[in-house]
This record gives sequence, C-alpha cells and structure tokens, in this order.
Amino acid sequence: MSETTVTPRRISARIGGIAESATLAVDAKAKALKAAGRPVIGFGAGEPDFPTPPEIVAAAVAAAEDPRNHRYTPAAGLPELREAIAAKTQRDSGYAVAANQVLVTNGGKQAVYQAFATIIDPGDEVLLPAPYWTTYPEAIGLAGGVTVPVVADETTGYLVTVEQLEAARTPRTKALLFCSPSNPTGAVYPREQVEAIGRWAVEHGIWVITDEIYEHLTYDAVTAPSLPVVVPEIADTCIVVNGVAKTYAMTGWRVGWMISPADVTKAAGNLQSHLSSNVANVSQRAALAAVSGSLDAAHAMRSAFDRRRQTIVKMLSEIPGVEVPTPQGAFYVYPSVKGLLGKEIRGVRAESSVDLAALVLEHAEVAVVPGEAFGTPGYFRLSYALGDEDLATGVTRMGALLSEAK
Ligand SMILES: Cc1ncc(COP(=O)(O)O)c(C=O)c1O
Repeated sequence: MSETTVTPRRISARIGGIAESATLAVDAKAKALKAAGRPVIGFGAGEPDFPTPPEIVAAAVAAAEDPRNHRYTPAAGLPELREAIAAKTQRDSGYAVAANQVLVTNGGKQAVYQAFATIIDPGDEVLLPAPYWTTYPEAIGLAGGVTVPVVADETTGYLVTVEQLEAARTPRTKALLFCSPSNPTGAVYPREQVEAIGRWAVEHGIWVITDEIYEHLTYDAVTAPSLPVVVPEIADTCIVVNGVAKTYAMTGWRVGWMISPADVTKAAGNLQSHLSSNVANVSQRAALAAVSGSLDAAHAMRSAFDRRRQTIVKMLSEIPGVEVPTPQGAFYVYPSVKGLLGKEIRGVRAESSVDLAALVLEHAEVAVVPGEAFGTPGYFRLSYALGDEDLATGVTRMGALLSEAK
C-alpha cells in the first residue's frame, strides 16, 4: 500500500499570491548596482529627493523628548492630528469633514489597504483604471475582491471615461478606485470628468476610493478637484486617501490617513487597533506640524518638479520610438515605448517593456519601471523627483542606447 504524503503549504495561498512591489524592486536593484560601484541613475522611486522641511523635523525632535509620546496613544490617531487633518482637508480641497471621520494610518499605503479591507467582501468587483499604481490590485486581492482593470492609453491622456466604466460595470461592482493626479501617468482629471464619474458612481451605488496623495502637485495652472467636493452626494459612499509623504517630502515618516463616513472609519480603526495600533507618535507630531503649517515648502518643491518635468518631456520626445504625453500632475512621466518593441539593441531583441527596461539598466545604467508593473505593458514609468543633473545625464544615456534600436 503506497502512502501519499501531503506536504503542507509553507506560505498561505493568500499571501503567496502577492507580488513584490515592482517599483520598490527596481529601486532596490538600482541601489544594489550603485553600491557595487556602477554609476546607476534611478528613475524608479516615487519619492521627492528633498529633505523634510526643517520646522517639521524640529517638531519631531521636540516630540521625541516629550514622555507623553513614549506611550501608546489612540489607535485611530492623536485627537489633535485628526482635527488638524479635518481642518487641512477643508482648507486645501474644500471638503468639510469631522475629526471622527479621519483615521491616521501608517502611510497612505495602509489607508489604501484598510479602505479595501473595510468595504470589500469576497467576490466584490473593483473597477481599477489602468495604468494603475502597483499596490491597488494587491490590496483589492487581499480583501477578497476582484480587480477589473479599465484601460486608458496615451490617446486619451490616460483618462478613463464614464462609458468605459459603464461597460465594465456588473451587478458585483462594489467600488471604483480613482487616483488624480495619477501614479503612474501624472494624468489629472478635469472637473467635468470628475463630476461625470462621481455622478455615475452615485447613480449606481458604487463606492469611490479616491487617492488624493498628489493633490498639491499639479502644473500649468491645472488643479485636481476633490471628487466628493465636486459631487457632494457621494459623501456616504466615498473614502479619501491622503498623506504627508509626497507633499512634504516625508516618505520615510509613514503618516497617511483615510477619510470616510464615521461608521466606516470606526470599523477600519477597529482593524487597525489589532494590526498596527497608533502610528509612531513622533511621526504623528511631525505630520501635525506639516498639515497645520504653510504650503510654502511644498510650492518650492513643486517649482523644481515642474522644471524637471519640462526637461524630461522634451528630452524623451526626442528619442525615436518613444511617445510621451505631457503629464500635468504628480512627478511621473509615462512614455509609450511600443515603437521600440521587437527591435534589437546590442544583439538582444526587446520583446516587452520588461526586456527593454533590463537592457536600459544593463547598458545605460539607468533604472526605469516597465509598464507591466502598472497593468499596461509597452510603457516605462520614470519618476522625475531626482536632481536636475542626474535627470539630464540619465535620459541622455538612455536615449543614446535606445537610438541604437534596429
Ligand atoms: C498613488 C499613491 N497612493 C498612495 C501612496 C502611498 O504613499 P505612502 O504610503 O508613502 O504615504 C503612493 C506612494 O507611492 C502613491 O503613489
């Protein structure tokens, strides 16, 4: 009689299904090559290259010395920070919310995760405009939801229409993820389109999770209106995600938040109370100084990003086979490299944007993230949140290599 051995699964199916963050992976690879002495220039990381403004750092230093901050505090966030975030939301986007609707999270990333975990049941469908930030589908999947990508390409400036959303809607559609300004494309939805999408969602009882983390990074006098401000009727089925990371060069401090109807915030807070408890108090105090202070430093950083945006768009548009729409927000540019696929560079045929990005890293020593990470093969994402000189050198090196394609 033969005995069958059942090998227990080491990693659960749920967690085993999670892909490594492609953007962090590219960044890690670039940093490893750099550490090994290669002069790699990284366009992978989505973080400002500036230090956090000094008044924010000073608030953190003072907080570290105050024993009140050495203890557990309420899981949902310091009450004064929740108040300040509510006030900042009214100031910056005109959305009037109460402090008990705000949940302070460990970065916007945790807010995204908890937003989906709180409203999604197994089998619920979430419409996800693509190209999308690489974290969303993982957060949707972990909540048991099903991602339904709705693809928009460079011909529409990477903006999805209500008609596309309607074509993807089914009786199981529970939510739409909306991100403007967008990571990875830098696209910003104009007010009329925000309104049309918001009204469509209200009409069909579809939740909208709107990620406003790049709210202050818009260019050419463009603004990014907040969806629940444009369509106030959606307030009861809307979750806003935001944080200090991008506006105040605070990616390492890990403070974000979600704003939702009070019952949703309470439920998400219950989850957080078992998952991570309060965000580090020193970081919360720094965030308090950030959101209650002026936006001067943010505006100065935005001017630098704007300058780099113009340089990178101009330089990329001169590379044969690269098509680059001008982004109006965030600090990313998302060129199509479809014109280079199937061509040969240094004896290797690049069949995909992953192949092409590998060639660029190997031979031009430039790190970019291939579009596969964002649900749309055939593109590169380049972050222009790096020094002007590196930016120019990196794109020149990449352009020289790509011009060899035949
Ligand atoms: C669209 C978007 N949302 C949320 C986040 C989360 O940022 P953090 O967790 O650093 O606050 C990011 C970071 O890259 C992002 O690009």
